[in-house]
Amino acid sequence: MCALRCENIHKIYGKSQQATYAVRGISAEFQENTFYSVIGKSGSGKSTLIHLLSGLLKADRGEIFYDEQPLSTMNEQQLEHIKKKTGIVFQNYQLLPELTVRENILLPAVLLEEKCDEEWCDVILEKLQMTDIQSKYPDQLSGGQQQRCAIGRAFMNRPKYLFCDEPTGNLDKKTSKSVLNFLLEIKQLTKPTIILVTHDLDIARSADVVLHIEDGKLVSKSL
Ligand SMILES: Nc1ncnc2c1ncn2[C@@H]1O[C@H](COP(=O)(O)OP(=O)(O)O)[C@@H](O)[C@H]1O
Ligand SMILES: [Mg+2]
Repeated sequence: MCALRCENIHKIYGKSQQATYAVRGISAEFQENTFYSVIGKSGSGKSTLIHLLSGLLKADRGEIFYDEQPLSTMNEQQLEHIKKKTGIVFQNYQLLPELTVRENILLPAVLLEEKCDEEWCDVILEKLQMTDIQSKYPDQLSGGQQQRCAIGRAFMNRPKYLFCDEPTGNLDKKTSKSVLNFLLEIKQLTKPTIILVTHDLDIARSADVVLHIEDGKLVSKSL
C-alpha cells in the first residue's frame, strides 16, 4: 500500500534574482515497508526533498499525501499524529550531549509525555549492540556508535516513516556499512517506509528502490 506520495512538489528558496529552484516538480510514491534510497550530486535537492516529505518544510506548489490524506489539509491534531509516526536521522547525529545513550533513545517517548516503553528501548539497545554502553555519553562514543544511537532514537516511537539524510556522511566506508546493517536489522521490527539520502552507492544499492535526483527533478537512470 502507498504510505506516502508527493505530487508535483516545488520548492524555491529566495526571490527573483536570488531565487534557487531546489525542487522542481517531483512526483513519487512510497510504499509501506519499503526502503528507498535517493542519490544525486551535491546541491541537486536531496535534503530539500526529504524536508518537504517529512513536513519540516512547506512546499511552494504541489501536495504531499500521507495515507492519501493531503498534508496541507491536516489540522494540528492530525499533524501531531504524523509527527509521532515519523523518525528522522541526520548526518551529524544531533544527540543531546548531556543525556546518556539510553536517555537519548528514550527522548522521543519522553517528549510525547507518554509512558516510556523501557522494554522497547532494551530491544533497540540490544539490536544496536549498545546495551553495554547505554550509560555512556555521546562524547564518549565513536561516530558509528553515535549514529547507531541516533538510529535507535528514531525507532523509539515505532515510526511508520523514517527519513535519513546522509546518515553515514561522516563515517568511513566500513563503519557506514555496519551502521547500515544495524538499520536493516532494526527495520525488520517495525517495517517502516524508509527514505534515505546517500552519496554512497553501496548503501544506495541496499535499498529496494533507488531514486536519482538531478537539478531538483527525479530522473530515471540505472546505478
Ligand atoms: N535554506 C536555503 N536557502 C537558500 N538556498 C538553499 C537553502 N537550502 C538549500 N538551498 C539551495 O537549494 C539547492 C538544493 O539544496 P539541497 O536540497 O541542500 O541539496 P543536496 O541535499 O542535494 O545537496 C542548492 O542549490 C542549495 O544551495
Ligand atoms: Mg543535502
